[in-house]
Amino acid sequence: MFQDPKRYQAKHQYVTAAGADLVEVLAPQAGERVLDLGCGTGQLSAQIAAAGAEVVGIDLSAEMIEAAREQFPGLSFAVGDARDFSFAKPFAAVFSNAVLHWIKPPEEALARIAACLGPGGRFVAELGGARNVATISRALLDQLAARGFYPQAPWYFPSLGEYARLVEQAGLRVAYASHFARPTPIEHESGLRDWMEMFADALTADVPPSMRTALWDAVEATVRPALYRDGVWCADYWRLRVVAYKE
Ligand code: BEZ
Repeated sequence: MFQDPKRYQAKHQYVTAAGADLVEVLAPQAGERVLDLGCGTGQLSAQIAAAGAEVVGIDLSAEMIEAAREQFPGLSFAVGDARDFSFAKPFAAVFSNAVLHWIKPPEEALARIAACLGPGGRFVAELGGARNVATISRALLDQLAARGFYPQAPWYFPSLGEYARLVEQAGLRVAYASHFARPTPIEHESGLRDWMEMFADALTADVPPSMRTALWDAVEATVRPALYRDGVWCADYWRLRVVAYKE
């Protein structure tokens, strides 16, 4: 997924900033074991640990885990796949911010999450929900098609009903779920381009570098009326938040 921790931290801090609010929903308790699933460079793991919880962070990217270990040497991090992980000791909570929309099929991640929670354990997650970045991805897919490229979007943005059903099927009781718009400002005049280069690289993998500038220009021109306001790019994020319990 992401392999450039420096670029991620320099230009996409808003992902972590939005997640700080989710740590409040988690309300970590001193001494409890918490898994941060898709921990990236570990900023939110560190916030959870600051409450006295014993945190383990896992991420698919070895580069992200290396950066997390460098910044937070006192915490425990490991490379791990959200669809295929297990721990001998159960967790009191699994926390996940802005990661589960990258994981397909979602059932595999939910099965692992449910399996690693102890009785009464909670799952607190936020991911992109239905409609997420629809303006950007529509424009990007249209511009790619105009150039003869027809990639599949790599993301999974479920509706509230669909995801709540999958969480229940994994054996967890959904206590709270919410689907809401979060228009997200992206700093810098190059913000939209930075976003596409970082997050939509899977869509443009087959596009020769010589064609990319014209592609970004065309996408920017298409979405500018909807997403550029008062000199700031604003991504059309829609979030899905879930709190569920293992009974
Ligand atoms: C998101 O956090 O919603 C997201 C990030 C990158 C690509 C698509 C969605």
